[in-house]
Amino acid sequence: MRFDVITLFPEMVQAVVNGGVTGRAADRELIHLNCINPRDFTTDVHRTVDDRPYGGGPGMVMKPDCLVEAIRSAKSKMSDRKVIYLSPQGKTLNQSMLQEASKSAGLILLCGRYEGIDERVLELDVDEEWSLGDYVLSGGELGAMVIVDGITRLLPSVLGHSESANQDSFSDGLLDCPHYTRPEKFEGLSIPAVLKSGNHQEIERWRKMQALGRTFQKRPDLLDKLELTEQDKILLDTFLSGLK
Ligand SMILES: C[S@@+](CC[C@H](N)C(=O)[O-])C[C@H]1O[C@@H](n2cnc3c(N)ncnc32)[C@H](O)[C@@H]1O
Repeated sequence: MRFDVITLFPEMVQAVVNGGVTGRAADRELIHLNCINPRDFTTDVHRTVDDRPYGGGPGMVMKPDCLVEAIRSAKSKMSDRKVIYLSPQGKTLNQSMLQEASKSAGLILLCGRYEGIDERVLELDVDEEWSLGDYVLSGGELGAMVIVDGITRLLPSVLGHSESANQDSFSDGLLDCPHYTRPEKFEGLSIPAVLKSGNHQEIERWRKMQALGRTFQKRPDLLDKLELTEQDKILLDTFLSGLK
């Protein structure tokens, strides 16, 4: 999987492969992260990447010429990849977007700064706009790092068996179940007895019930999108009656 990130702050984005799951994936060449600085595609002596907005107003706008050249340079290294502009006006990022992207050859991620980028870049060379959420950041770099991390952990053989992404929140539409580790008693709190029972069927049943129950409690909107089986409904009822 190849990521080309177009950014004025390559050292910031590069940090995503400095350690952890993404770092290991890069070391094993399961992902390749390449940063492209639009400044390298400027032609004036000052290497100008921004200019005043037409029509006046505050802030600066990233110039189209160096951005388009940077995108095309990324495409020349590997075509058949979507160009994604990180933008608060884009589609809000979710797990299915990451899952879908994890099946592709990679992405070209375009990070804006200042007031944003010249609109014509979107018309010419951008396939989609993705947002981290309904708030405004100073640049797209954090978004690009989020995307690289979120996709990398979904790639085959990136996570070990014990870290499997299949059980994470959202992978089956539910939130993940609670987790516990040693010590068995901590500040007066014990772990649920079933987890020590050694009965794997019962443990699986408990985990599913907890996943259903906490999704109901924390994110009922997720349950609305699912068609629960009769067995799931029974488990959820059991969870809820346990709260009474
Ligand atoms: C200060 S913002 C520009 C915001 C723009 N004037 C607007 O209101 O739509 C600068 C850059 O940060 C990035 N950015 C800001 N908020 C973001 C968000 N919620 N998701 C993804 N990228 C974001 C974009 O790349 C954007 O071009």
